[in-house]
Amino acid sequence: MQHRKIALVTGANKGIGFEVARQLAARGFHVLIGARDVKAGRAARDKISRDGSATFVQIDISDPESIARAADEVSGQCDHLDVLVNNAGILLEEDRGAVAITREIFEATLRTNTLGPWLVAKGFVPLLKKSDAPRIVNVSSGGGQLENGADGWAPAYCVSKTALNGVTAQLAAALPNFAVNSVCPGWVRTEMGGENATRSVQEGASGIVWLAAEAPQELSGKFVKDRKVIPW
Ligand SMILES: NC(=O)c1ccc[n+]([C@@H]2O[C@H](COP(=O)([O-])OP(=O)(O)OC[C@H]3O[C@@H](n4cnc5c(N)ncnc54)[C@H](OP(=O)(O)O)[C@@H]3O)[C@@H](O)[C@H]2O)c1
Repeated sequence: MQHRKIALVTGANKGIGFEVARQLAARGFHVLIGARDVKAGRAARDKISRDGSATFVQIDISDPESIARAADEVSGQCDHLDVLVNNAGILLEEDRGAVAITREIFEATLRTNTLGPWLVAKGFVPLLKKSDAPRIVNVSSGGGQLENGADGWAPAYCVSKTALNGVTAQLAAALPNFAVNSVCPGWVRTEMGGENATRSVQEGASGIVWLAAEAPQELSGKFVKDRKVIPW
C-alpha cells in the first residue's frame, strides 16, 4: 500500500460516494470506504474489494470525535493520503421555506454539510501533506450557487453548500500545494436525488473522479461541474 495512491471517500456506502469509491478503485487507488454505519460500510468495502483494493473506516462527519478517531486509525494504517473526497451530505425532509424551517434543521444541515467537511479536511491534512500531489474534493451542489440568487428550494441545504464553497476557497488559500475544489455532480438518481433525476450515479461520479485523479494539480480554489469551472 505504501506506493499506491490512496483515497478516502466519506459517505461511500451508497449513492454517489459508493460509485466514486468504485471508480477510484478501478483506477488502481486503494480506497478507504468512509461510512458511519459499520454494516453498510463493510458491505460496500466487500463489494469494491472484489475488483479492487479497499478498507472500511468508520466516520460520522457530524461528530468531531468520530472524525478524530478515524484520522488516528488511518494514520496507523497508511503513511500518506493522496485524495480526500468530502462526499457525505444530508438533505432533510423538513427543509422547506427559509422562514418556516427550524433552528434544529438549519443547524443539523450545516453541521453535516459544512462543518463536517471542514473538520474532516483539518483532521486529514497532516496525512495529505505526505502526498506528492494532495487533493481535496468537496461535493457541493448547484443549489449553493449564488450567481442567480435562490429559487426557495431546500434553504438550509443550499446555504450549507454555499458555505461549503466558502470552505473550499479558504482551504485552497491555506494549502498552496494542494488542489482543493468544490464540485457539482448534477442531479443524480440516488436516495437524495430521487428517481426522476436526470443523471446516473456513474455520470454523477465522473466529474468528482476527474477532480480526484486527473485534473491539473494547479486547478484549485474553484467550483467545477462537468470538468469546467462554474461561477460560485
Ligand atoms: N443526488 C443529487 O442529485 C445530488 C446533487 C448535488 C449534490 N449532491 C451531493 O452529493 C453527495 C452524495 O449525495 P447522494 O445523492 O449520493 O446522497 P445519498 O444517496 O443520500 O447518500 C448520502 C451519503 O452520505 C452519508 N452521510 C450522511 N450523513 C453522514 C454523516 N453524518 N456521516 C457520515 N456519512 C454520512 C450517507 O450515509 P448513511 O447511508 O449512513 O445515511 C450516505 O452514504 C452529497 O454531498 C449531496 O449533497 C447530490
